[in-house]
Order: sequence, then structure tokens, then C-alpha cells
Amino acid sequence: MNAKKTFKLAVIPGDGIGSEVIDAGMKVLKQVEVNSQGEIKFESVYFPWGCDYYLENGKMMADDGLDQLKSFDAIYFGAVGYSNVPDHVSLWGLRLNICQNFDQWANIRPVRFYKGIPGKLANRSIEDHDWVLIRENSEGEYAGLGGRNLSGRGLGKEVAIQSALFTEEGCERIIRYAFDLARTRKRKRVTSVTKSNAQQYGMVLWDEVFARVSKDYPDVETNQWLVDAMAAQFILHPEELEVVVASNLIADILSDLGSALTGSLGLAPSANINPERRFPSMFESVHGSAPDIAGQGIANPIGAIGSAAMMLEHLGLKEESNDVMRAIEEATSKGFLTRDVGGTNSTIEVAEAIVENLSKNKVEN
Ligand code: NAI
Ligand code: MG
Repeated sequence: MNAKKTFKLAVIPGDGIGSEVIDAGMKVLKQVEVNSQGEIKFESVYFPWGCDYYLENGKMMADDGLDQLKSFDAIYFGAVGYSNVPDHVSLWGLRLNICQNFDQWANIRPVRFYKGIPGKLANRSIEDHDWVLIRENSEGEYAGLGGRNLSGRGLGKEVAIQSALFTEEGCERIIRYAFDLARTRKRKRVTSVTKSNAQQYGMVLWDEVFARVSKDYPDVETNQWLVDAMAAQFILHPEELEVVVASNLIADILSDLGSALTGSLGLAPSANINPERRFPSMFESVHGSAPDIAGQGIANPIGAIGSAAMMLEHLGLKEESNDVMRAIEEATSKGFLTRDVGGTNSTIEVAEAIVENLSKNKVEN
């Protein structure tokens, strides 16, 4: 029987634990196919890009890599970076290259607590609360503008300039994205985070755009925070958070904080979205390649599997996405946990428990 819905997935496992968590995610996607009884099919093509590829070829991805990826429905990404290549070379050569050239300007990073995984908050009663970070993903501090010069003056005399880019258009589209998302939530609230007392040009522009856009959403409550205070707020009063929108660097840092609060960096999923759908969007865990635990089969696969669930939703498979999230929650509540969250299970054991729950869910449905 021909599948009614066929999706072309570009799979880039990348470096370190990237391939381990992507293997886990692909097992879950396989089960989604099985559950659909032939309705859904994923045609996956693997790309070997990453640090080993760089050592062999002198580049992080093929010269025509972006052209190769263009025709896919989505990109499923592991992580990039290893000690054999400088981090700024590997990150810019692969992940940032894709995010920027495919204009994946909205990076969605839910902060979610799972049953059975003790979070790190003192006030445990809020652990059934979740919030979402919306990260500006195309400019800000990661615009890649700047340069180094004057090394010719001798040792210790070099200068470097790294400029952040804030365009009114870039600020407006991500802020509107946050407001639109807030409207889909029970408590409609957007919190904007900057450091505009010190960053008096770009981030003041951001603040002004936030104030202007908020007028179009009178039904959405707003507040504005400076990032240092917001870091404390994440720990002291996370129940106040719903949709949090911030620049590239600020939201990058806050998302690791959020992820750690839920119990581990291995838990948080993310979606790099090109909302206009001119290019494929890319789905990846928040964490990096974790070289300290790579190759041991103990990486937590939940961030990567949650990212696969976000990919399903983006592809219009909302019900299947919910099924995957339920299967994750069932696995954690039953105590299938990797070491980082206090368990003893391997990556594959956790993935298999999730697959098993998913297959049962279908029967029970
Ligand atoms: P990291 O996120 O890779 O690791 C930080 C800590 O969290 C480590 O102790 C690691 O063992 C732990 N951890 C991360 N993911 C885990 C998982 N799934 N299960 C259990 N524990 C987990 O960040 P780090 O060490 O700063 O960076 C390592 C490399 O990853 C660098 O080369 C960096 O440039 C790269 N990186 C890549 C990213 C990407 O591809 N999107 C994002 C962040 C870092
Ligand atoms: Mg990060």
C-alpha cells in the first residue's frame, strides 16, 4: 500500500552523542510509521556532516549542502562540535550555516517537567507548570558580524570586534511569533527579556518594538525583564513564566538554565523554524554533543525524542506528536531513566520503553 503521507527527512546526527540520541529518535519515528498502518512514511536520508567530515574534507558540510537539504520536508539534527575542531568553526560551519541560510528565525524551546524526574526547583509544587522560550534565531549576538585585526602589532595587541545586529524587522517578527503563541495558551502572557540598560542601541530598539507590537495584542498580558533578574526569576518564581521571548544569546543561556531546572540538559527539545516554510525547518535537542559522555550509550534521548515530536507537529501530525509526548511521560513515570536524571538505564533502553508505550497507546486508542 502506498503511504498517504510521505515525508522526506534529512537526518544529520553530527558529533558526539548526536548519533546516539538521533538513533533513539529514529526508532520512535519508525514506531509512528508502524502505528499509522501504512498511512505515514518517513523517507530518511542521512548526511555524514560534522567534525570527522571536516577533518577529511576541510569543511563541515558539502559545498552544495544547503542545496541538497532544500528539498526536504524537515531536518532532524543531533549536535555538532568535538575537540578535534575549534567550536566556532564547527558551529558556524554546520548548525548556524543551516539556521541562517534557511532563515530559521524562530527557535522554540519548551521548558517542560516530566513525571518521575525530580526537577531542581526548591518549590516542587510548580512542577506541573511549563513555559516556552522563543529565541530570536537569525541575528542578535549571533549575527556573525565583526572581525579581528592588528595582530601585526605583536603579541597581546590584537583587537576583536563582535557586533550584535538588531533589525526592526527581525525584532518584530519574533516578538509577533511570541504573542501569537501566547494566544494559544491558557494564561496569555509574554515576557520580553533584554539587557537594554547596558545595551543601549539594539536592545532599546527591541524594547520599543515590543511595546509597539504589544498594542496589537490587548488580550495578552506583558512584562519586560532584564536578563540578570530573569535568571533569578527562573529559579525563584518560574510559575510567572508562560512565553518568554529574547535575543539569540540570552535565550540560548536561559534555555540551558530551564533545561537544567527540569532535571537535565538532556531533556529539552527545540525547533528551528522558518515560519514562512520557504525552507525546511530543523529539529534538535537544546544540548550539545556532550563529549564527556559520548560513546558510552548513556545519553538521555528525551531531548531528541521531544524534538522529533515537535517535528511531527510541524509536519501536521499533531495527534502523533501528542502520542510521542505521552509515551515519553509514561516511560519517565515508570522509572525508565538515564543516569543524568538519577536512573541506570541506557539511551537505547529508554528509547525502547518509549517505543513500547507508543505501540501500546495505539492499541488502546
Ligand atoms: P553540552 O550540552 O554538550 O554538555 C553540557 C553537559 O550536559 C555535559 O556534562 C553533558 O554530559 C551534559 N549533557 C548534555 N546532553 C546530555 C544528554 N543528552 N544526556 C545526558 N547528559 C547530557 O555542552 P558543552 O559541553 O558546552 O558543549 C560540547 C560541544 O557541543 C561543544 O563542541 C559545543 O560547541 C557543542 N554544542 C553544540 C550545540 C548544537 O549542536 N546545537 C549546542 C551546544 C553546544
Ligand atoms: Mg545552547
